[in-house]
Amino acid sequence: MKLTYFGHSALGIEVDGFHLLVDPFISGNPLAKSIRVDSLEADFILLTHAHYDHVMDMEDIAKRTGALIIANHEVAKYYQEKGFKCHELNFGGSWNFDFGRVKMVYATHSSTFLDGTNGGNPAGYVLEAGGKTIYLAGDTALTMDMKLIPLFFKLDLAVLPIGGNFTMDVEEALIASDFVECDRVVGIHYDTSDLVKIDHKESKKRFADKDKELILMEIGSDLKV
Ligand code: NI
Ligand code: MN
Repeated sequence: MKLTYFGHSALGIEVDGFHLLVDPFISGNPLAKSIRVDSLEADFILLTHAHYDHVMDMEDIAKRTGALIIANHEVAKYYQEKGFKCHELNFGGSWNFDFGRVKMVYATHSSTFLDGTNGGNPAGYVLEAGGKTIYLAGDTALTMDMKLIPLFFKLDLAVLPIGGNFTMDVEEALIASDFVECDRVVGIHYDTSDLVKIDHKESKKRFADKDKELILMEIGSDLKV
């Protein structure tokens, strides 16, 4: 499995020849100017919630690629009504897609579209594909529900928000990594604006001090999982 970081919470996941895109907010991110949205491949687009900083480029990419959108009921319904192909999941539910299995798990946040439409409840996902298992937390606070995840999964990687203000910060992400029992963490949802700026060196050190690894990927770079 190969992970590519497109800035903020946007990720590409390549596994067994399939391309997944997670929370595509790229053209609105000044830090992600090097990423060409019109050249991104996508067979599937996974959305954690309806906020603009997670769905901004979704429609353009899905129109061009014909990707299947995986999202909660309200987000799926919103895009279905616009003519997009969607697969709806809800909490506790899993489904086998061509690339692997996806389970929708709890996130503590909110989810409203830019136009005011109710986007249902925000979610995280656990992805099992290519022999690896990763947790995509989405936008969330630290929550006790994270402790349920290791009852079912042995994670290879946890992708956690770390920027604070809208989500967990580094300190809470450190505790989240205990809750989900995964010491290898990719940080997301940081540095995009002044509200979510973090100190890279200090953040990595906090993880290293607990024998954990915080990976802060360069935008456009890959990580082998
Ligand atoms: Ni959000
Ligand atoms: Mn967000």
